[in-house]
Amino acid sequence: MLHLATLDVADDDFAAAVLAGLAAPQMTIPARFFYDTAGSELFEKITQLPEYYPTRTEIGILRDCGAAIGQIVGPGRAVVEFGSGSSLKTPPFLRAVAASAYVPIDISAEFLAMAATDLAAKLPELPVFPLAADFTRPLRLPAGIAARPKLGFFPGSTLGNLGPAAAVDLLRAFGDTLGESAWLVIGLDRRKDPAVLEAAYNDAAGVTAAFNFNVLHRVNAELAGTLDPTAFVHDAPFDAALGRIEMHLRAVRDTAFSVLGRPFALAAGQSIHTENSYKWTLDEARLLARAGGWTPVELWTDAGAQFAVHLWRHDAASVEP
Ligand code: AVI
Repeated sequence: MLHLATLDVADDDFAAAVLAGLAAPQMTIPARFFYDTAGSELFEKITQLPEYYPTRTEIGILRDCGAAIGQIVGPGRAVVEFGSGSSLKTPPFLRAVAASAYVPIDISAEFLAMAATDLAAKLPELPVFPLAADFTRPLRLPAGIAARPKLGFFPGSTLGNLGPAAAVDLLRAFGDTLGESAWLVIGLDRRKDPAVLEAAYNDAAGVTAAFNFNVLHRVNAELAGTLDPTAFVHDAPFDAALGRIEMHLRAVRDTAFSVLGRPFALAAGQSIHTENSYKWTLDEARLLARAGGWTPVELWTDAGAQFAVHLWRHDAASVEP
């Protein structure tokens, strides 16, 4: 099994990650800590914002290309979803590809239970094998689907929240988990006009700002933090050289605070970097597939060229002229 060198061992330790991140010259708090209950609810609200095009655009693409994907990969695959699944995306996809079983993988047993209940109501005949696990780590799929051909499903451009090295590692781990002859359907946000991107991460209603500030509130509540929210603003510019939106909590004045008794200070203009969200051209996405051990086979996009759903195949090294 592959070792993900890009993810450290104390990965889920909030205190260790925050103390290490705040000690770095560019302070950081890893984006995975956004998602406590309040953060997950805020993210759900983000997906419905007029400016946040990815979710609704991907749902439209999946609706249009589901049957074509089903034809290419053939019926009867066990669909392995990396993440607990959304009630809007997953059931239509499972129907379109004529899945024979469904394995949602999520670190939160609570989300998994909710997703499984929702699905049982919509697709009562489909065998579901929920797996409570961290899908960024090597994992073993349930024995009940061992004999079935696999189709991985990773929508939402979630891969974009990882840096390039970690993204490639994760794609390789997916290949290890799913095995030879598996397919992967992956949603990736496209590079586009920075004004459109920046609007999506700086919505007028301030929901993304609240999502960003949620992690600051978590530090204060859970790690005896003394960060003054009024000393920070939400800042989410697009970095064209790196091809990513960056989210920061930027200090508007000099500010000092402590976390678990350790002192920290930021000068006005300095920031805590809380998230990256990579955006890829179609060619970059194809290269990403190859680097991650997958062969790009087909892709579908929307009329506005905003988002793409890619179909990749995992097979023994093919011989090319
Ligand atoms: C979950 N992830 C793909 C979202 C994104 O667009 O990068 C998280 C998010 N951050 C701010 N808005 C949405």
